[in-house]
Formats: sequence, C-alpha cells, structure tokens
Amino acid sequence: MNKRHIQIFDTTLRDGEQAPGASITPEQKIVLARQLGRLGIDVIEPGFPVSSQGEFEAVQQICRELQHVEICGFARAVKGDIDRAVEATKDAARRRLHIFISSSDIHLQYQLRKTRDEVLAMTREKIAYAKQFVDEIEFSPMDATRSDEAFLMEMLETAISEGATILNIPDTVGYALPEEFGAFIRRLREGVRGADRVRFSAHCHNDLGLAVANSLAAIRAGADQIEVTVGGIGERAGNCSLEELVMAIETRKEALEAETRIDVSQLYDTSRMVSRMMHFPIAHNKPIVGRNAFQHEAGIHQDGLLKNRNTYEIMDPEALGIPRNMIVLGKHSGRHAIKHRIAELGIPLDEGQLNEVYERFKETADRQKTVSDTELAAIAGTVADVV
Ligand code: KIV
Ligand code: ZN
Repeated sequence: MNKRHIQIFDTTLRDGEQAPGASITPEQKIVLARQLGRLGIDVIEPGFPVSSQGEFEAVQQICRELQHVEICGFARAVKGDIDRAVEATKDAARRRLHIFISSSDIHLQYQLRKTRDEVLAMTREKIAYAKQFVDEIEFSPMDATRSDEAFLMEMLETAISEGATILNIPDTVGYALPEEFGAFIRRLREGVRGADRVRFSAHCHNDLGLAVANSLAAIRAGADQIEVTVGGIGERAGNCSLEELVMAIETRKEALEAETRIDVSQLYDTSRMVSRMMHFPIAHNKPIVGRNAFQHEAGIHQDGLLKNRNTYEIMDPEALGIPRNMIVLGKHSGRHAIKHRIAELGIPLDEGQLNEVYERFKETADRQKTVSDTELAAIAGTVADVV
C-alpha cells in the first residue's frame, strides 16, 4: 500500500512556548532545536523573530546550525514582522515564512478592529510583499473553524493568488469535532480555487481534548502537514501532541495510509528534555511518554505480558527509547511476575524459597503501594541467604 508522507511541523518553540510558565532562554531554544533535528522533524518554527532581540538571534542561530531542517519564520501580516522573519531566517538552507491573520468575524470585530475588506487587502499585500524574499509561504487564517466559510475561501484564494504555497488551517480555540474538521478540510480542498496548487496543513488546539483526533481527521481529508508541539504544550490546553500524533500514525499506518519520518526512538528523550526545560510536568497517564503509559499492575495483565507483550501493549516501549522494566510490582502482581523479575535480578531460588519470597512480597505490597526492584532483591536475597 502506498503511504503518503505526512510532514511534521513542530511549533514547540513558538506556539508551545506560549504556554504559561514555559518560556525558555535563547540558549535553551538552540539546545531543544538540536534535539528536534535529531528527532527528524521536517519543519521547525523556532520562535517569533519580531518579539525580541534574543528571540531573533535564537532563530538566526538555529537557521545557521540546523542546515538539514526546513526552518519557518513566523510573522503577522505586518511589514515589520515579515522583515524581521526574513532577516532572521536568511541563513537557513531551506526556509519558509508563516504569515497569519484572523479570519473569523469575532476576531475581526474585537481583536483586529478591521473589516473583512481590510483584512483581505492585508492578506493580499503582505503575502505579495513576503513573496519577493521567500518562495515557500505558509498562510494561516486564524480562528478558521469559526469563520464564515465563503469569506474564508475568498481569503485562501487571495493567499494562493499572491503566492502562498501552504494553507494551514488552524482550529485556534479547539472548537472543532473530528468528523466536522475532516469534512471542513475536504470542502476547502475541493472548493477553494487554486487549491490543487498548494499543500494543506492542520493546526489544532486541544481545548476539548480533540487536537490529535482532529489532526488525524485532517490527514484522512488530505492534509499533508500537521502542526504539533512536544507533549502538546501550548496556550490553554495546548496543541496537538507530537508523540501522540506520530505514534497514532506509526501504529495505524495501514489504516491511515500515511507515515512520517520521525525517529521514534528519540520521542522519550525529547519529551523529557522539553518537560525539564519548560518546567512542564508530564502527566502520569499521558499516552506514549507518561510514567504509566507502559506500566502494568494487574496480575492478569502482567502474566499475559510475560507470555507475549502484544497481549496488553500496542507499541514497543523500547523502540520509543523508554527504559525496560516498567512493570510495576504491587499488590495486584501475580507469582509469575515475581518469579520473572527475580530471575532478571539474577537471584537463584528453588520453588520453596520462591513461595516464601512471594508471601513476604505480598505483605510488603499490602503495606506500601508498590515494591521496587531494590526492595524485592532484598527480600529474595534474605530468603536465598545471599545477602
Ligand atoms: O492557533 C493558531 O491559530 C496559531 C496560528 C497563528 C497558526 O497558532
Ligand atoms: Zn496555535
């Protein structure tokens, strides 16, 4: 089956950094960008060059260093923003400009205080202006999912006619439902004049916990690029989570007829690094990278896993760079799991000794929630008389 390559556009260092408390220094940005490069991200959006001198220099430095990755300069549809983004990205081996302006009436009325005609004129003029400097232009109509569809289409057609090459459709406030978003992307691809000359991208926020589902719906509807952040960090409830999206594609690639170029063995390290630097704890039950994502406490599950991991796991944690031995031993653990772990710890026990260790293990597990390898080794060592 021929699989479509889905470009992964990472905006951890721009939209992700907008998460309250997540802001990092320019030096940390460069360190994280290197890791994103190792991960195999197709396009990195490293910041908002006009926002500060430090941000500008970090983007510039990332462009100079990461010559194997396409780098995106971010700008409002404003000349000053575009000039800074063009300047900051000029040393990139491959670059694009990402220009955005709101398209919904509520944003036009209260945020921009502009009419539809004024916003269309800004789109036309600023894309034409940016196109003199950079070939690859990504255009985002902010709050697209709450916009009047006829106006949105007119705006997208304007963007294409001035040279936009990628149309990114943001669900800025995480309002869309998956079937609805998929159908929306399909209608835009079919209804916007010139849509066959450009690529479509989706940028989903997670206010209803649907960012990954909506992004997958966009892929099914023909989007070639998905915008993500590591750990899904970002404004409010965040963005589409990189780990979750990539592993959904990887695990269900036949159903989605799609694939990415991400090196999944780097997912765990990348996620820890972002969490540490951006002071953003990872929820224990976070899919893929959370502490419990591959932990199995129930005796029945542990027993099944020891016979064949596919009984209760749909992904191989080791392939994701996650340390082995994530089976938690606790009061729900069975004799088989204890026997297996003791063998891994290299402590020889006969059947009688194993029974005794199991009894003592259960007593300990009743007192405390879990039993660590060190504690189990101490119990087994005492019974075997090796400590
Ligand atoms: O959420 C959003 O609308 C954005 C755009 C600027 C792409 O971040
Ligand atoms: Zn966003």
